[in-house]
Amino acid sequence: MNTSQLESLLNWRYAVRKFSEQTIAQDKVDKLIELTGLSASAFGLQPYKIIQISKQSIKKALLPHSYGQQKVLDNSHLLVFAADMSPLDSQVERYIQDFKANRNLDELVYAQMELGMKDALHTMDCASQYSWCSEQAHLALGTLLLVAASMEIDVCPMTGIDKVAYDDVLGLSSLNLRTVLIAPIGIRDSTDVNANTSKVRKSRDLLHIEV
Ligand SMILES: Cc1cc2nc3c(=O)[nH]c(=O)nc-3n(C[C@H](O)[C@H](O)[C@H](O)COP(=O)(O)O)c2cc1C
Repeated sequence: MNTSQLESLLNWRYAVRKFSEQTIAQDKVDKLIELTGLSASAFGLQPYKIIQISKQSIKKALLPHSYGQQKVLDNSHLLVFAADMSPLDSQVERYIQDFKANRNLDELVYAQMELGMKDALHTMDCASQYSWCSEQAHLALGTLLLVAASMEIDVCPMTGIDKVAYDDVLGLSSLNLRTVLIAPIGIRDSTDVNANTSKVRKSRDLLHIEV
């Protein structure tokens, strides 16, 4: 894909407020999630999970915790990005195992990597782990928005929800997960108020400084 094609995609996508009744095929959703998994993340740990909610009954239970945002119910699939709150040491150990399976390096290198990662992460308390995991999840969201656009899938990235209530409804604490953001996906409805509106963005002067 060249830059002008990428620019078209960035202009094509927008945060959809109203989805049509069309459903996205599961194999497309699978591809979207697979490619989102290629996002960069600190240390490569990807400390989040993407939960797919297909059942209307669960979406209905989440709606009262979404500040009246009906698109939480009316979409093809609802994705929830959740921070992985399991012990960071165990996340590092899992990563090192995967790393070993992919690379052919001296054992000492893996041991040093593991020590270095654990050392860098060991000061995190629960609040800072959640905040750090959230940053990584937001990076993945950026990838998801772009990949979705390339597949003509619409998305509304959302943090305007009661995350604690989402955790309760989805039973996330027993899985060591905490809600970060959600992304309803589907196909834009032709009556969506936000369809065909122009982008509101900072001018280059406000966005960029040179020092
Ligand atoms: C992290 C994040 C959270 C957002 N939360 C909401 C939300 O709760 N409800 C909503 O309608 N839009 C939400 N948006 C969409 C933004 O309002 C939208 O991306 C922004 O106005 C730029 O417009 P565009 O994405 O249509 O180009 C969110 C976007 C991001 C990136």
